[in-house]
Amino acid sequence: MKKLWGGRFQKTPEQWVDEFGASIHFDQELVEEDLTGSLAHVEMLGKCGIISQEEAELITKGLKTLLQKAQNNELSFSVAYEDIHLNIEKLLIDEIGPVGGKLHTGRSRNDQVATDMHLYLRKHVQTIIELIKGLQATLLTKAEEHVETILPGYTHLQRAQPISFAHHLMAYYWMLDRDKQRFQESQKRINLSPLGSAALAGTTFPIDRAFTADKLQFEGMYENSLDGVSDRDFIIEFLSNSSLTMMHLSRLCEEIILWCSQEFQFIELDDTYATGSSIMPQKKNPDMAELIRGKTGRVYGNLMSLLTILKGLPLAYNKDLQEDKEGMFDTVKTMEGSLQIFIGMMETLKVNKEKMEQATKEDFSNATELADYLSTKGMPFRDAHEVVGTLVYQCITSGIYLKDLPFEEYKKASHLFEEDVYEVINPYEAVRKRMSAGGTGFDVVRQAIEKAKENLN
Ligand code: ARG
Repeated sequence: MKKLWGGRFQKTPEQWVDEFGASIHFDQELVEEDLTGSLAHVEMLGKCGIISQEEAELITKGLKTLLQKAQNNELSFSVAYEDIHLNIEKLLIDEIGPVGGKLHTGRSRNDQVATDMHLYLRKHVQTIIELIKGLQATLLTKAEEHVETILPGYTHLQRAQPISFAHHLMAYYWMLDRDKQRFQESQKRINLSPLGSAALAGTTFPIDRAFTADKLQFEGMYENSLDGVSDRDFIIEFLSNSSLTMMHLSRLCEEIILWCSQEFQFIELDDTYATGSSIMPQKKNPDMAELIRGKTGRVYGNLMSLLTILKGLPLAYNKDLQEDKEGMFDTVKTMEGSLQIFIGMMETLKVNKEKMEQATKEDFSNATELADYLSTKGMPFRDAHEVVGTLVYQCITSGIYLKDLPFEEYKKASHLFEEDVYEVINPYEAVRKRMSAGGTGFDVVRQAIEKAKENLN
């Protein structure tokens, strides 16, 4: 089949070469963006007198018909036309005749594809920001229900000090808040128009870049045509921001997976977000959390891939850049899917308050309380640490916890111990008293939730 760029060629490529070079099987995802970009471009061509008003109107009509068909899934594309841009041009010419060939005046696929991707990411980054906010809101609701639910806090995955479950959830709220800010901050770079950079050097036609930028609701335009067509930083930024978000989700997934194990039993996932085993009838597996943890890998992969694609590229456009799209689409799909699933999974998650609290009673996560107690009474903290460490060891050897240790033993260890020691080591009290800013004390957590609520609005 004769190519739209076939004039310079004596042979048409073989089908398998066509297939290798084509991007239509994935860049058809950009069909609406491509048509939207073309609509702005043709209006500008008419306005600037580069083509006649009648021609511009005819092309506009044709593009609108194609847009309608695209929305109804009625367009069919062909590998012979390589990518979405040439496919659309071909369909347009089929629709309105040879005048359709005037659409490509004063532009190139190079600025066209870059424009499409800016439009595409602009839309999806906004969706992702909304989804992040949705997950933050879900975490806030859960946190509000569980201010006074206590569980062991861990360091090194060893029980460290008791904390409020709400405090734990709110840690993720703030991670997501940074993610949201990063995406918001990137919007100003996504929202720039490369259109009119043409192939690489601008064009001799008297185009109006500001007009198309404005029509497409961009906030500004690329200052340099070479940069305009070859910049993919905005996609790398998107992949990088997504990698961070996925990493945060993955950490929470890891905790969810641990928490719903037999060993912890801190939570139970709703049936919707779990699956059974084909052989072991008792199983309820946290598949969705595992899958999101796993999908983090492909998002990192997409980031590495694009960074590597770009590192050796001379200016301006190179066909290597066609490799930028699949990772971007895949990341958008992964991010939107993971965030949606996460919202549902968190909303429906059942918290086993008793198990969590029980865990704080059957460990030594109240040992810091004892050391603090002695140091408040004047003993240097280092000595207090030693005294309590010895008491913990004594308990471990007799198979009891600090709460079970007879008062004489405390007295023997230090004369500073009084009868109130048992209240001090009560984990609930231990949490309540951690009133320092950003700490887990119940009242501090309540204030933190209020602050977060204002922040979210
Ligand atoms: N399909 C191409 C891509 O995705 C569009 C730009 C092609 N430009 C070119 N001069 N071959 O990058």
